[in-house]
Amino acid sequence: MSPAAMSPVATSGDPVLLNNGVAMPRVGFGVSEVRDTEAAVGEALRTGYRSIDTAEVYGNEDGVGAAIAASGIPREELFVTAKVWNDDQGRDRALRAAERSLDRLGLDHVDLYLVHWPTRYRDRCLQTWDAMETLLADGRARAIGVSNFRRSHLERVIGLGGTVPAVNQIELHPWLEQDDLRAVHAERGIVTEAWSPLGRGMLLHEPVITAIARRLGRSPAQVVLRWHLQQGTVVIPRSSTPERIAQNRAVHDFALTAEDMLAISTLDVADGAGRIGPVPDDPAPDDLVAARG
Ligand SMILES: NC(=O)c1ccc[n+]([C@@H]2O[C@H](COP(=O)([O-])OP(=O)(O)OC[C@H]3O[C@@H](n4cnc5c(N)ncnc54)[C@H](OP(=O)(O)O)[C@@H]3O)[C@@H](O)[C@H]2O)c1
Repeated sequence: MSPAAMSPVATSGDPVLLNNGVAMPRVGFGVSEVRDTEAAVGEALRTGYRSIDTAEVYGNEDGVGAAIAASGIPREELFVTAKVWNDDQGRDRALRAAERSLDRLGLDHVDLYLVHWPTRYRDRCLQTWDAMETLLADGRARAIGVSNFRRSHLERVIGLGGTVPAVNQIELHPWLEQDDLRAVHAERGIVTEAWSPLGRGMLLHEPVITAIARRLGRSPAQVVLRWHLQQGTVVIPRSSTPERIAQNRAVHDFALTAEDMLAISTLDVADGAGRIGPVPDDPAPDDLVAARG
C-alpha cells in the first residue's frame, strides 16, 4: 500500500467525481442475491443510501425500480448502476439490453452503465464499447464503465482513443487487494469500485479486523468498509438485514490509523488466491473473431 493510501480520506462522505465530472456516492447498496429486493432497497433508501448497484443478470431490476418509485426521492438525487450481461455483448444486443434494463427500472437513464465481464474477443469487445458510447452520447447513461476488467482488457478499450471507462468494478477486499490493477486505474483516472467489499461476510471474523473493531467500538464490517474508503475505493456492500444496512452506511465519522490500514493489508493472500469469485479471462489474441449471434 502506498503512503498516500494510508491517509484518512473520504471522512466527509463527499461523492467521488468520475472522469466526466459526474458525482458518484462512495457508499452504495449492492443488490445481487438480496433476499427481498423491493424491501431491502426501500430500507436502504430510507436509511439514506442514494446509490444502488444492480444488473440484468441479478433478475431483480423490477424490484429496484419499484422501490425507487415508491420512495418518492427525486431522480436527480439517485445514482443507479446497471450492467450489460455477457450474452448481450455486441453493439445491437447491448443496446437492446440497456433498453430492457431501463424499462424494468422504470427510468429513462442510468447514472452508470457497466460492461459486466470482459469478453475474450476483440471485435465483440469493441462493438460493445461502441454501444456504451452511444448510450453515453444520447443520455441513456450519464457515465459508462466496466467490471472485472484486467489491465489487458482496459488497454484494449482505451486503445480505441474514445471514452476512457469511468469506473472498473472489481472483486476487492482485504483478502484480494488488487494493488496492481488499482495502480493502473490511478494512472488512467478510472475509479476503483469494490464488489464483495466485505468478502461476502466471510472475512469479518479475521482476528486482525475484530481486534480493531473492538478497540474503535465499531463493527468488523464498518472497519473493512473504512479500509476501502481510506484508499479512495467506492463500495457497494449488500445486506438484507435492516440493522446492517444502516450500519454499513455509518462509516464517515471515524478513521483507521495508518497502523490499522497496514495491519488489515497483511490479510492479502499472495497471487490472487484470496479471490472468492471467478477469475476474469485474459483476452484471446486480437485476430480471434467471436462467433456472431
Ligand atoms: N460486478 C460483478 O461481477 C459483481 C460480482 C459480485 C457482486 N457484485 C456487486 O457487489 C455487491 C456486494 O457484493 P456481495 O453481495 O457479493 O458481498 P458483500 O457485500 O461483500 O457481502 C454480503 C454478505 O455480508 C453480509 N453482511 C453485510 N453487512 C454485514 C454486516 N454489517 N455485518 C455482518 N455481515 C454483513 C450479508 O449478510 P445479510 O444479507 O444476511 O445481512 C451478506 O451475506 C453485490 O450485491 C453486487 O451489487 C458485483
